[in-house]
Amino acid sequence: VMVIVVTPTYKRYTRVPDMIRMANTLAHVKNLYWIVIEDGNKTSPAVEDILEGTGLQYTYMAHPTAKGFPKKGWYQRTMALRFIRSNTDQILGTSKDGVVYFGDDDNSYDIRLFTDYIRNVKTLGIWAVGYCGGSPVEAPNVTDGKVASFNVQWSPKRVFAVDMAGFAVNLKVVLNSDAEFGTSCKRGTGAPETCLLEDMGLDRTDIEPFGWEGKEGQRKIYAWHTKTKPPYIKGKLETFGYQVEIE
Ligand code: UGA
Ligand code: MN
Repeated sequence: VMVIVVTPTYKRYTRVPDMIRMANTLAHVKNLYWIVIEDGNKTSPAVEDILEGTGLQYTYMAHPTAKGFPKKGWYQRTMALRFIRSNTDQILGTSKDGVVYFGDDDNSYDIRLFTDYIRNVKTLGIWAVGYCGGSPVEAPNVTDGKVASFNVQWSPKRVFAVDMAGFAVNLKVVLNSDAEFGTSCKRGTGAPETCLLEDMGLDRTDIEPFGWEGKEGQRKIYAWHTKTKPPYIKGKLETFGYQVEIE
C-alpha cells in the first residue's frame, strides 16, 4: 500500500525548519510518495534539497493560489488531487493500493500515524488530533467501533468534524470521485475537510476510527496541530552566503 502524502507549503521564516522536521519523520516510512505543492511561482531550492535528502519518492511542483481561492493551501491540494488522478500508475509503482493523506507542513507527526493508521485505511480513516480547534484534543466519538458524533468544541455538527490532519482516504475513493477543494465551502462553518469528504460521497458510516481502543487516559495522539513561532530577527537581513529563506 502506497501512502500518498499531500503537503501545501509556502515561503516564510519557519518553513525550512518545519519541512526538515516533517521530512525527517516521513523518511522513516516505506512506500511513501510525497506530493509537495509550492504556493508560489517557483519551487524553492532549499525545499528541493530537503526532499532530495529524504530518499523518498516525491513530486515537488509550484502552483500559486488561483484567483478566488483562499491563501490556505486549498488550491494546492486541489492541484495535487488532479495530479494523483492523472498520474496514478506512476505514483503507485508496484503497489496495488494507495491511501491519500493531507499533511500540512507545520504539524507534528508520529511515524506510527503512517505505518499503523494511514496504511490500513480501507475507505475513510479518522483519528485524534492534538491541540486542535481550541481543544487539547479533537477525536471521533466511538461506540462499538462506529462513529456517530465527534468530541470537538469547534463546529461539532459538521458531518465530518475533523481537522485536515485527522483523516485519510483510500485512493479508490479519490479516483471514484472528482471532488476537489473549491474556492469556498458553503456548508456549516465553511470547513474544507467536511466539504471534501461529503463531496466524495462519504457519510459517517464509512468512518474507520483509529487509536480509540486504548484504556481511558492512555490513548495516544499521533498527529499534533502545532504552529511554529517565527524567529526574532533584528537588524540587517544578512545571510553570509547561506541558503536562508527570507519573507
Ligand atoms: C488549518 C487546517 O489544519 C488546514 O489544513 C486548513 O487548510 C486551514 O486550517 C484552513 O483554514 O483551511 P492552519 O494551521 O490554520 O490549518 O493553517 P496553516 O498551517 O497556516 O496552512 C495549512 C497548509 O497550507 C500548510 O501546509 C501551509 O504551508 C499551506 N499554506 C498556508 C499555503 O500553501 N499558502 C498559504 O498562504 C498559507
Ligand atoms: Mn498549520
